Amino acid sequence: MSPDGQGMIPGDPASPSARGLLVTGAAEVVTMAGGVRRGPTQAEPAIAPPGTAIACLDGRIVAVAPEAEARDALAAALEAGDRTPDAVDRLEVPGTTVTPGLVDAHTHLLFAGSREHEVALRARGATYLEILAAGGGILATVRATRAATDASLLEHGRRWLTEMLRTGTTTVEAKSGYGLDTATELRLLAVAGRLAAEGPVDVVPTFLGAHAVPPEARAAHGDDIAAATEAYVAVVIEEQLPAVAAQGIARSCDVFCERGVFSADQSRRILLAARALGLDVRLHADELAPSGGAELAAELGALSADHLGAPSAEGFAALVHAAERGRPVVAVLLPTVPWFLGLDAREPARALIEAGVPVALATDFNPGTSPVTSLPLVMATAATRLGLAPAEALAATTVHGAAALGLAEDRGALAPGLRADLVAWGVPTHAQLPYWIGADLARAVVVAGRVVGGRAGARGELAANGLEVDPAR
Ligand code: NIG
Ligand code: FE
Repeated sequence: MSPDGQGMIPGDPASPSARGLLVTGAAEVVTMAGGVRRGPTQAEPAIAPPGTAIACLDGRIVAVAPEAEARDALAAALEAGDRTPDAVDRLEVPGTTVTPGLVDAHTHLLFAGSREHEVALRARGATYLEILAAGGGILATVRATRAATDASLLEHGRRWLTEMLRTGTTTVEAKSGYGLDTATELRLLAVAGRLAAEGPVDVVPTFLGAHAVPPEARAAHGDDIAAATEAYVAVVIEEQLPAVAAQGIARSCDVFCERGVFSADQSRRILLAARALGLDVRLHADELAPSGGAELAAELGALSADHLGAPSAEGFAALVHAAERGRPVVAVLLPTVPWFLGLDAREPARALIEAGVPVALATDFNPGTSPVTSLPLVMATAATRLGLAPAEALAATTVHGAAALGLAEDRGALAPGLRADLVAWGVPTHAQLPYWIGADLARAVVVAGRVVGGRAGARGELAANGLEVDPAR
């Protein structure tokens, strides 16, 4: 591991431990069981009775039950697999709150370089889209990313995944989109796949070829940005998407549907082509201005509509209507973006929840609008700026994050059969998660039934039987 990953225990989710894991002693176990929540139920965390333990085996949860019952279930499962019933590691987490592992459903994990100088440009009055139009912004990162080696992209991915793991994230969506040519887009998705195979954090790759119009398309069409954009849309549809689908290296396709970037019509064409090739669809929708993105997400039955900093009234209504029809598009809000950009815009989180649209929260980790790795920080931002209750913010980073990735049947809650991803936090109740802003709260992080991180992991004390972590001090 890199020096930045020091102390973490590398995981191999492909081969979970042959031993079971029993997590005991939590002050509060928040299961988030019950699936996607709509309306007032988004505030229902599903707290298990005191004394609840969690039993894990072969990467999955076996039981969430009183300790004796959980222990029996684990012994029975071990015996059924011809293993000794006492092959169990115990993770004692006294005084902590245990939640599902956090799911970051929107990141631009893979890029090279950094853009801290843009903060100063914005402070002097430049806007995000002006910087992009002048060849900076995303395009600056594209130049750096094209020049980066696979090895350096891998090292970058490991470094930032390690940061995310430290704050309780166990699943990360990773978009391409800083290549904007077929070879680099494929390279980015291949690196995401390698990171997923390495673990311990699970990485879910998304193809975002339509993130910006690349410089060569602009050059070929002189100052005619409209013609350049149209020409690049054809490249995405005719060249990039078939190659991505043929290699089977992305689960879904995303488009930056935004006034001045890709129109709703162009986004529709790209996403329909993606769907025809078997990919799920999602959108950057109305991040900065109403652009028809929310409407399009509802029309297509997208897994998610992301950002929604400025949806139109029609777009908002379309999302409400989709949820009422039982085909909810998850609204993935990224509140550290306007915060970092110094904008007053606030996503309509309360209105969406109250109208029955399931809301998720994600970091949008990227070098331009959100150099943020911590979902607890995002939860705190949502609580302070958008008025989310702690349980709403937690649903937004667990069960709804999983739903936004099409993985609600697999993770995002603590229930038998689901992936054994969980976090023990050094607070006695989930209500304190978005309250101690910026504190380092993750005491133990479990991925696929193995203890892989957290403060106790960093001290290397969790490798053997009798695992014990810092109490909530
Ligand atoms: O989600 N809006 C498009 N993409 C990113 C920003 C990318 C960048 O500035 O590098 C976003 O905000
Ligand atoms: Fe984004």
